[in-house]
Amino acid sequence: MQFAGIGIEAVVGSRALGRAEETVASLRQRWPGRDLPLTPGENQAAAAADLVVVATPWDGVLATVAPLEETLRGKVVVSMANALTRLGREMVPLLPPTGSITVAVARALPGSRVVGAFHHMPAGPWSDLDHPMDADVMVCSDDRAAQDEVVALVDRLPGLRGVATGGLGSALAIEALTPALLEVNRRYKTHAAIRLTGLPGGDS
Ligand SMILES: NC(=O)c1ccc[n+]([C@@H]2O[C@H](COP(=O)([O-])OP(=O)(O)OC[C@H]3O[C@@H](n4cnc5c(N)ncnc54)[C@H](OP(=O)(O)O)[C@@H]3O)[C@@H](O)[C@H]2O)c1
Repeated sequence: MQFAGIGIEAVVGSRALGRAEETVASLRQRWPGRDLPLTPGENQAAAAADLVVVATPWDGVLATVAPLEETLRGKVVVSMANALTRLGREMVPLLPPTGSITVAVARALPGSRVVGAFHHMPAGPWSDLDHPMDADVMVCSDDRAAQDEVVALVDRLPGLRGVATGGLGSALAIEALTPALLEVNRRYKTHAAIRLTGLPGGDS
């Protein structure tokens, strides 16, 4: 969605073409003035793109990517899912056996260039093209070139800065931080995101 907002052609994937069509239609309706380059498709069609973002709930990620392994081979595959659950009123992290969902994706797709990113995007601003976000996006990968590619892509999105955070091992900390952010947002009724200080080039 944010990609389409800056003119990048994007396929909106779904397990059912009809639902992807509905999603694209509702996005076009929401922003009638923008010629969003969005195409609806089943997940197989979405996986044919040059770069693929897996954006299902955490417990659907492996079922989504495993059948697409061949199509995704050699491609940059971005995982943004966070394993979490509700404990009473509070959101808490779950620890997958692999430590993170991103690593689970990398194991399921040994031929792909797996990158973790976008885990901390606050839901409202992430789907709003009218107000630029204000956040850093932590980008982790064991594939340095793929990581750099995603950092550069993030840098093109209004208000966002990509920050390389290290290898896939850092996905555990990144994903586990998300429920804490959700709690911040619940407590303060806001859309807080992450900004890192002290980086070369300034703090934004
Ligand atoms: N929402 C955000 O702003 C945001 C920000 C940062 C990270 N994330 C992460 O991104 C992921 C997606 O978040 P979301 O809020 O977009 O989730 P969502 O709306 O609940 O799910 C996105 C899509 O995933 C598909 N899906 C649902 N359950 C599935 C399953 N069991 N197996 C395969 N596909 C399934 C559905 O599409 P079809 O039924 O059409 O296939 C659904 O429309 C999550 O893991 C979340 O932690 C979200």
